[in-house]
Amino acid sequence: MTVNLKTTYLGLELDTPLVASASPLGRTIEGLHRLANAGASAVVLPSLFEEQIEYDSYQVHETLELGAESFPEHATGFLPEFEAYNTGPEHYIDLVARAREELAIPVIASLNGATTGGWVEYARRLEAAGASALELNVYFIATDVEDTSTAVEQRYLDLVAAVRETIDIPLAVKVGPYFSAMANMARRLTEAGADGLVLFNRFYQPDIHLEDLEVVPNVQLSTPMELRLPLRWIAILKGRVNASLAATTGVHSGEDVLKLLLAGADVTMMCSALLRHGPEWIRTVEEAVREWLESHEYQSVEQMKGSMSQASVPDPAAFERSNYMESLITYSTPNV
Ligand SMILES: Cc1cc2nc3c(=O)[nH]c(=O)nc-3n(C[C@H](O)[C@H](O)[C@H](O)COP(=O)(O)O)c2cc1C
Repeated sequence: MTVNLKTTYLGLELDTPLVASASPLGRTIEGLHRLANAGASAVVLPSLFEEQIEYDSYQVHETLELGAESFPEHATGFLPEFEAYNTGPEHYIDLVARAREELAIPVIASLNGATTGGWVEYARRLEAAGASALELNVYFIATDVEDTSTAVEQRYLDLVAAVRETIDIPLAVKVGPYFSAMANMARRLTEAGADGLVLFNRFYQPDIHLEDLEVVPNVQLSTPMELRLPLRWIAILKGRVNASLAATTGVHSGEDVLKLLLAGADVTMMCSALLRHGPEWIRTVEEAVREWLESHEYQSVEQMKGSMSQASVPDPAAFERSNYMESLITYSTPNV
C-alpha cells in the first residue's frame, strides 16, 4: 500500500506537507532547485523587507537629487547588511519570476514588514512576477509604553487588509505567539484577509556580550522542544478559524511533522533543520512520515490531519489550564 501524502495549503495542491520555510537556502535559484530536488513540496522565499523597499526607492530618489549617503540609516550600516541576505527588490522580483518558470512546485514569495505604506505595492509586483502565493511576515516589537494592545493588533489587521486589497493570489500571514488573546487574533487576521496562518514567527533575541559589553544580535537555530508552542495553538485553532494552518518553529523530524499533522497543520515548514543538515534532510523526514503512516495503517495525510486537534480529542482540557495544573502536580522530583 502506498500512502498518499498530498495536502492542500492556501488552495494549492501539494505533494507532501513538507515546505521549505523562508531561509537563506532559498536566496538563489540554485538553492531553490536544491530544495525542490530534495523534496520540498513548496518553497517560501526569504523575505523582502519593508526597509529594503523603502531604502531602495529612497536611494533612487537620492541618486537623482541628493546623494545616497544622506539616508540616515545608511551611515549606521544597518541597511547595507541586507545586501548579504538578498540583493534588493528588483533582484528579488527576478528570482520569483525565474523560480516560477523553472520549478515544478509552488513558489511563495515573502514580504516582511510592520507598517502600512507604499512598500505594500510590492505585493502586486510579486504577484505579477508569478508568485503562487504571498507570505506576509509581520514582525513588530511593541516597545513603546504608550502603545496599547488594541493599537498594536489594529496595526497587524490594517497591514493584512492593505496587502489583501493589493493582490488576488492566496495570502498567508506569519505572526508571533505574543498576543493576549491569540485565538481571537487568529480569527481577526483571517477576517482581515489571511487565507492561511503561519504559526509561529520566531523573534530573535539579542544577547549581551560580557567582555565587549555590547548588545549582539544572536540568531540561534531552533530545537525540537520549541515545537510545543505551534503544536498547541494549531490544535486549538483547527476548525475554529477559516484558514489553512502552517507550522513553523521546531520542526526537525518526521515525528515532529506527524504530531503537527495530527494537531491539524496543513503543512509543516522547516528552516533550522535544513540549515543544520542540508536540504536533502527533507527526504529523510518524508521517509519517516511515510513509514509511520504505513505502519499505523493510515492511507493518507488527509485522513490523519486534525484527528488530535482540541475539537477532536476526548479530553479538550489537555490543551488548557487544567493540564498545566495536572502536569505540575504529577511532576516527580528528580533526586537532587
Ligand atoms: C538564518 C535565518 C533566516 C531567516 N529568514 C527569514 C525570512 O527572511 N523571512 C521569514 O519570514 N522568516 C525567516 N526565518 C525564520 C524561518 O523561516 C522560520 O520561521 C524559523 O526559523 C522557525 O523555524 P525553524 O525552527 O524550522 O527554524 C529565518 C530563520 C533563520 C534561522
